[in-house]
Amino acid sequence: MRLNSPQINLIIKACMKASRSLIRDFGEIENLQVSTKAPGDFVTSADKRTEKILINELQKAHPEYGIITEESGIVNKSNVKNRWVIDPIDGTMNFLNGLPQFAISVGYEENGEILCGVIFNPIMNEMFCAEKGNGAYLNNSRIRVSNKKKIKDALLVTGGPKAASKIRNKIFSEYINVSDKVSNVRKFGSAALDIAYVACGRFDGYWQRELNYWDIAAGIIILKEAGGFVDFFDQDLNSPLKKNILATNSNIHDELKDLIYKKDIE
Ligand code: IPD
Ligand code: CA
Ligand code: CA
Repeated sequence: MRLNSPQINLIIKACMKASRSLIRDFGEIENLQVSTKAPGDFVTSADKRTEKILINELQKAHPEYGIITEESGIVNKSNVKNRWVIDPIDGTMNFLNGLPQFAISVGYEENGEILCGVIFNPIMNEMFCAEKGNGAYLNNSRIRVSNKKKIKDALLVTGGPKAASKIRNKIFSEYINVSDKVSNVRKFGSAALDIAYVACGRFDGYWQRELNYWDIAAGIIILKEAGGFVDFFDQDLNSPLKKNILATNSNIHDELKDLIYKKDIE
């Protein structure tokens, strides 16, 4: 691997450390203490423990950096120049149900741009990582997006809506509209891995509404460095951390965008 910034090395080290207790927790899933954050959105003691390990490791090197986290909110608010973006477990529902489709996701942002990121599924032992200008990797192998040219041949992935979503019907009708025009659509339950899978060509594209920045921050750079294209739509300017994402192999991007806006494709 040709990744060499101090930040990516710190993230990899922190992810490896945090993954050890996460693997243990996954093995003892029934004993985990579960509390409800909101309908369909659970938070476990494993989320909190994992996040704490990540924060401790990253802060050892850079106590002055800002951190955007899912479980602890924003740390060091005044530093908006250098920020870590952490989702300790993306795919908590899968984790809770003993499904090995979840990941630790950590990105590093400088002046508002994500420069590097890691998405690590410790159960499958798959680490996706990328750094601006140096390509994207799955473990030690370089990855690239698929070569699919036509949306009608594409295998896509999506997610949502959450139980409490106010736009459930819109999301379902968008799903029908897109499904009608593509080869097939999957729902895997981890936004971070969904994007990583587009980056390595397992899926040709991904779209989803009502995400949070920490779900996809690391994925943005991994997909870009793998030759893909990431775009955000219907952004609510009052909620900069809320995101609607369209992430593809580039080739099918415009066609998928048109489908989401309900235009017909030949
Ligand atoms: C969730 C996952 C899921 C997506 C949800 C996210 P969490 O993150 O990424 O795929 O559909 O919108 O909230 O809660 O497991 O970290
Ligand atoms: Ca998440
Ligand atoms: Ca999470």
